[in-house]
Amino acid sequence: MTALQTTIKLDATIQRDLLSRARQVAQRAYVPYSNFPVGAAALAADGSVFTGANVENASYGLTICAERSAVTALASAGHRDIVAIAVSAPRVPLTTPCGACRQVLNEFRPVSEDMIVILDDRETGRAVRLGELLPMAFGPRNLEGEGEQSIE
Ligand code: THU
Repeated sequence: MTALQTTIKLDATIQRDLLSRARQVAQRAYVPYSNFPVGAAALAADGSVFTGANVENASYGLTICAERSAVTALASAGHRDIVAIAVSAPRVPLTTPCGACRQVLNEFRPVSEDMIVILDDRETGRAVRLGELLPMAFGPRNLEGEGEQSIE
């Protein structure tokens, strides 16, 4: 069993809604260079949802991934916890967030429960934990206090 085969429970209606929104916003991706659209839908603790698509640039390195588009919308609205995020890349099922996006997601991982990442399997979605995608992460809590840090 690989890490991605772990089963995680998220309310089925919420999971379906997040995935549907991620698929929809992927249609608005700006991807003239890669032709690889991605959409993301992030769920805040109060139930509100923020979406984002990837936005590329002629200076390739300035491309913004879908996940970071969604995260900045959520954080700009004042939220600080992401309960779950769905990611959909219509061209490739089960596309996972890139390394940079995993680190950005980790910034808004709730203290009490690990963030759920819903991957688009072209069916009802595959839910994994951020901790599986980014084990032993460096995050905001590592900057608090001194001495040895606990490894989750
Ligand atoms: N991309 C995302 O938006 N999210 C990911 O997690 C993977 C990569 C985008 C960046 C670029 O616009 C395109 O997909 C191809 O790398």
